[in-house]
Amino acid sequence: MNLQTKIRSTKVTADPSLSFSLPGWAYLDPEILELEKREIFYKSWQYAGWVGDLKAPGDYITAELIDQSVIIIRGQDGELKGFHNVCQHRGHQLLAGCGKVAAITCPYHAWVYRLDGALRNARGAERTAGFDAGAFSLRPVNVEVLADKLVFFNLDMNATPLADFAGKMVDDIRRDIPDFDKLVKVQKRPPPPDDGMNMFPVEANWKIVMDNFLECYHCRNAHPGFSEDLIMDTYRTTAHGVWSKQRGNTRRADGGEVMFWSLFPNHTFSTSTGGNPHFSVQIFAVPDGHARTQFGHSDRYRLPGDEDGEVFRPDWGPLGIEDKDICESVHKGLSSMGYDAGRFIYDHEHGETSEEAVHLFHRLIVEALGI
Ligand code: FES
Ligand SMILES: [Fe+2]
Repeated sequence: MNLQTKIRSTKVTADPSLSFSLPGWAYLDPEILELEKREIFYKSWQYAGWVGDLKAPGDYITAELIDQSVIIIRGQDGELKGFHNVCQHRGHQLLAGCGKVAAITCPYHAWVYRLDGALRNARGAERTAGFDAGAFSLRPVNVEVLADKLVFFNLDMNATPLADFAGKMVDDIRRDIPDFDKLVKVQKRPPPPDDGMNMFPVEANWKIVMDNFLECYHCRNAHPGFSEDLIMDTYRTTAHGVWSKQRGNTRRADGGEVMFWSLFPNHTFSTSTGGNPHFSVQIFAVPDGHARTQFGHSDRYRLPGDEDGEVFRPDWGPLGIEDKDICESVHKGLSSMGYDAGRFIYDHEHGETSEEAVHLFHRLIVEALGI
């Protein structure tokens, strides 16, 4: 049986109340990761940065996706353009980090590309028989700006436009964060937390890390700090096509709520209400081989001038370590000869026990891989 047929044979079905979960082997086979790279990651929208960092012609950012690297740059015509970050001569990477350039010059033999990707100069090419500069333009990637703020790329030039893919989620975010359009990226990167909130790297398949993010059925058991801060009876999970949302009221004096959105396949967005407006984007799970997961690029957004403003840091205890331990145990458990596939707990009220967002994630995986 080839892999696609095998994926189609799983018992992940449309109705979350009847569906089984993905079987253990779907998390453990390195060939599945290769299929996921081709059919999911290289065809999905991935966050790269803030549009405010790309104001003038020549402003650029670079972004990574597993083993791929891209450049996103403001062209002379004012449009954002995306390119694979690779020189068409002999393959050196062109740009790193972010900055501003008048033209894209390769650090290896100094081929020069215009901001529209066309090869402008290749020293000595005039003496090379039949050299056609037009055949050596940088290869394009798809770029779109979500909500006039968040720059995404997609290696698939035929991908569904991001505005269509994620537009309804943005409407929902704007409803919950009335000041969303005013928020700007916080340029100062915070030091990595050393309070147990960081779970990465995780020695587990990336889908286990996403599964675990997508439900709070485990929160009362596994996260005493988190479930003390929240009124768990108010926790709600809803699934909406390609995105899902979790929200819950806190016990804090300001009466705020926490909210987490997730966009297929691997992005999360978060905020809390009651304090200063803020919003974070995270590429939450990036496969580093089939049995290890890293955190990807993330940015925080605040009101202009509020960079150093008061941020309420909830005391959720070592939540990251708690999740890391869970995911690593599940990775081992899924390879047990004593496990096949489970069922989802589906709560029609979308309450704290509901695993409908995990079900949605599994269904989208099967749809993407089983073609
Ligand atoms: S690899 Fe870029 S100029 Fe040679
Ligand atoms: Fe958790």
